[in-house]
Formats: sequence, structure tokens, C-alpha cells
Amino acid sequence: MTSQPHWIASKGQPLQGTLDIPGDKSVSHRAVMFAALADGTSRIDGFLEGEDTRATAAIFARMGVRFETPSPSRRIVHGVGVDGLKAPQGELDCGNAGTGMRLLAGLLAAQPFDSVLVGDESLSKRPMRRVTGPLAQMGARIDTQADGTPPLHIHGGAQLHGIHYELPVASAQVKSAVLLAGLYAQGETSVVEPHPTRDYTERMLRAFGVEIDFEPGRARLRGGQRLRATDIAVPADFSSAAFFIVAASIIPGSQLRLRSVGLNPRRTGLLAALRLMGADITEENHSEHGGEPVADLVVRHARLKGAEIPVEVVPDMIDEFPALFIAAVAAEGPTVVRGAAELRVKESDRLAAMATGLRTLGLRIDETDDGATIHPGALGSGTIESHGDHRIAMAFAVAGQLSTGQVRINDIANVATSFPGFDRLATGVGFALA
Ligand code: S3P
Repeated sequence: MTSQPHWIASKGQPLQGTLDIPGDKSVSHRAVMFAALADGTSRIDGFLEGEDTRATAAIFARMGVRFETPSPSRRIVHGVGVDGLKAPQGELDCGNAGTGMRLLAGLLAAQPFDSVLVGDESLSKRPMRRVTGPLAQMGARIDTQADGTPPLHIHGGAQLHGIHYELPVASAQVKSAVLLAGLYAQGETSVVEPHPTRDYTERMLRAFGVEIDFEPGRARLRGGQRLRATDIAVPADFSSAAFFIVAASIIPGSQLRLRSVGLNPRRTGLLAALRLMGADITEENHSEHGGEPVADLVVRHARLKGAEIPVEVVPDMIDEFPALFIAAVAAEGPTVVRGAAELRVKESDRLAAMATGLRTLGLRIDETDDGATIHPGALGSGTIESHGDHRIAMAFAVAGQLSTGQVRINDIANVATSFPGFDRLATGVGFALA
């Protein structure tokens, strides 16, 4: 036995109750960044108190931005203006956050000072050429390791010019890095995506007073604009809600209400996939939260059927595949995932991590380069390696609720990057998780 943090998951109760899920990670990162660069004071409500988003705030504090925390999940940000960041001393640690590192690469490429971005073990293995490539086309000078991984050594003082960039992969992080560099570039910067991805950068820049044209799959802005402080209300994170949506769908007798969950259409592919499989999920109390659609989700247990997940929906559920795999295990008939090669370069190789973990619990998974076929079956006992990936750990915590024995999940510390308090909320509605 090691003493590393781990969970033991086993069969719990039918899930019952009402949950308030923490704030959206993507929105929280951007809210901190844009408020820091704005002229004036912004207030953020519903900020995710996760390690990833706190790392981003700490980086801006190191560059002279003052933050106040009047209460948990609130920040008052005293913006310094687009030209007001100060040269940081030492390396800037993005922790586990690909979003933090990639968006910062775009921003810092345009600053007059040098900077170095580092990350944890998982982030240090992730591909960065997808951002340094287009940024170099704009005139940025950024060094990576020989294999394109972090640290990123960003040379300040580059004069950037706008480009038209057609993204080879659908990535909101790459799109955002190019647009943020474009704010500082001469002329116009435009991006076109092979499939529309989450548009939080575009929506939020507009909320901060930036003139930006966008529609699904494209965006365009002029350089040299300033940001005007504004208040941001962060919706509950759909990707965190996803574990409870799947858990309530597959645990007999369950009924959960998840309050005010962000339902940006570029995030809710899992709802489409689960409904295709026969899930019983209703939306109530639709409203808007900081310009984002939100609603309560009421999820009841249902008998799911395996399905072919439509390839078009994959980018809209890119963070939800660990959860989907667990739903697929509990369905009747196989589920087929294709067109999801990006899963191999997330916080872990999620196709491999899910396939290996489910095989450990006695299931048959046929893995392909860009997906898998998941064959349902009874979940047994075993020890799962999360590979330091928060979403793998939470997915197997859900799997454990259907296990005939005990599922030990190793390496769970990184759950705090996106969902601090997951285990407390989960046990509060009926999970057996210790
Ligand atoms: C994110 C974009 C997605 C997603 C990640 C957060 C963002 O990554 O997987 O968790 O906040 O822009 P890609 O940009 O690689 O698609």
C-alpha cells in the first residue's frame, strides 16, 4: 500500500438531491486574464477556486495585477490595462492548465519583457507547437523543448502583425492564443476552425468592450484595442456537472437536480450523446448568466442503449469522454467513438487511460487511433491509475458506484485542479467514495 492520495469507490445509494457545481474553468481563466488587462476594476462572481484557475490569477499577480478575494469564489481585479503588465521575476507556473499556458503564450508573446511558462508533469508533456507555430507566423519568438513541449521561453519586444489562420485541429485554446496575440498585433487577425469550438474568448472580449466579429467557426479582430473593465458572472461548469449527469443516469433509482449549469452549445455535446442513448435529462429555469445560457438539469435514471457517437458532436463534448465511457459501460449494446484523436493529448492520453482502467475492471474495450468501441458489462474490482488526470479520476469514481466490489483510484490530487470538493458533493448525494 502506498500512502499517496487515493479513493476507494464502491456501490453507493441511488443519487438524490440538489447540487451547486463549482464555476466554469474555461470562463474563470478568461475572466481573470481579461479583467487583469482591462482599464478599471472588474468583479468576478462564481470564480472556480481550482488549482488551475488560481495558478492563472497568481501569474497575473506576479505581473503586478492586484486581486482582492472578498469571499470564496469572488474576485475583485484591479486591471492594469493592455500595456500595464510588469516583467515577472522567475518562471510562471501554469500548474496543470493547458488553457492557462496556451492563452498566456498568446498574450505574453506581445509584451515588451521576456517570460518563461512552466507546468506540472502532465502539462510538461503536452504539445505546444500548435500555438507557437501560428504565433511565430505573427512575429512572436517562443522557444519550446526540441519535441515542442514546455517550458515556453517567450522573448519580449516582438512586433506582431495580424494573420489569417486556418486551424488544422479544432481547438479553442489555439484560437484564443491567436486572437489574444492579435489584440496586440498590427492590422487584422482572423481565425477559421475546422469545427466550431467554445467561443468564450470571443464573447468575453466583446463584454470587455473589444470590437470582434465572430460566428461559429470564425472570428476576426483588429489590433490595438483596449479592454474596459466589466463584471463577470461565471456559470457552473458543465464538464464538472457531467460526472453527476452520467452517475444519475446509470444508477437505478437516482434523481438529481444540478442548479444553473452553463449550457453553451459548444459544451453540451454530452447531453446530445446521452439523449441519443435514451437518457432522461430535462432542462428547467432557463436563464442567462453573464451572457451565457444556463439552466437547472434534472437527471433521472434511465435504461441507456449503446450508440455511435456522431463525429460532429465530438468537439462539443471533448472533455466529457471519460464520463461518456462510463455511461457506455452501463448501456445495452456497444458504443462507438470515432474522430476523437485529440483525447490522446489531454491531461493524459484519455483513450488509453480509460481503456486500460475499464479492462482492469473486467470490460472489453477495442481501442483505435481516434476512438474506441466500449462493450458494456459488469464492473468488477481493481486498482485504477488516473495518471494525474482529474477527469479520469472522477470518471472511475462514478464507475465504482456500479462495481460489484471495490475500485481503488490512485493519483487523485489533481481533481483539485478543476473540481475541489468533488468527493464531498458526491458522498452528499449518495456516492460511496472514501
Ligand atoms: C479549453 C479548450 C479545450 C478543452 C479544455 C479547455 C478552453 O481544449 O479541452 O479543457 O478553455 O479553451 P482545446 O483547445 O485543446 O480544444
